[in-house]
Amino acid sequence: MNNQVCKEETVLHTNQGRRNFLKICSVVLSSLIGIAYAVPLIRAFISPALQETVSGSTGLIEVGSVGDCVVNVPRKVKIVDTKVDAWTKFPPTEIGAVWVILGKDKKFTVFTSICPHLGCGVDWDNNSGKFICPCHDSYFDIEGRVLSGPSPRGMDTLEAEIKDGKIFVEYRKMKLGVSEKMPA
Ligand code: FES
Repeated sequence: MNNQVCKEETVLHTNQGRRNFLKICSVVLSSLIGIAYAVPLIRAFISPALQETVSGSTGLIEVGSVGDCVVNVPRKVKIVDTKVDAWTKFPPTEIGAVWVILGKDKKFTVFTSICPHLGCGVDWDNNSGKFICPCHDSYFDIEGRVLSGPSPRGMDTLEAEIKDGKIFVEYRKMKLGVSEKMPA
């Protein structure tokens, strides 16, 4: 009799154990399915916020032809690119400007027009043959070196290359107010 009761209790325990195991399996499986659906949804929602805002061009930008340049006469060119900002992709927009210079050695230099001090636009003054930032009177020579004023470094050069007689530049914004040139 006792043996019979023991056997029944063992069968009961085994069934209970199986049920618990199945319950745990179904909870784990449901959680995994839930996570599999939730991750792409959450990613799609927050990924734009993780994107960098405009700190430069999305690729190389054409800034004119080699033939347009005159030795030691800086030429200002607007940079127009497609701006992608968080959730929005804008149509082609002006995102900055550069100075393109053909040196006596026939080499091209491209400077961003942004003053490294606090970000005002740097102009070229034909009379003095200098770059001038009108905000706090920083002066730079034609090679971008600081001549006077509060700018902590010279004008920032940008990566440029020539293809089929056209000049291309990779436009980048740099950190302001620091002595070392580094991307913003
Ligand atoms: S922003 Fe150019 S000198 Fe201050």
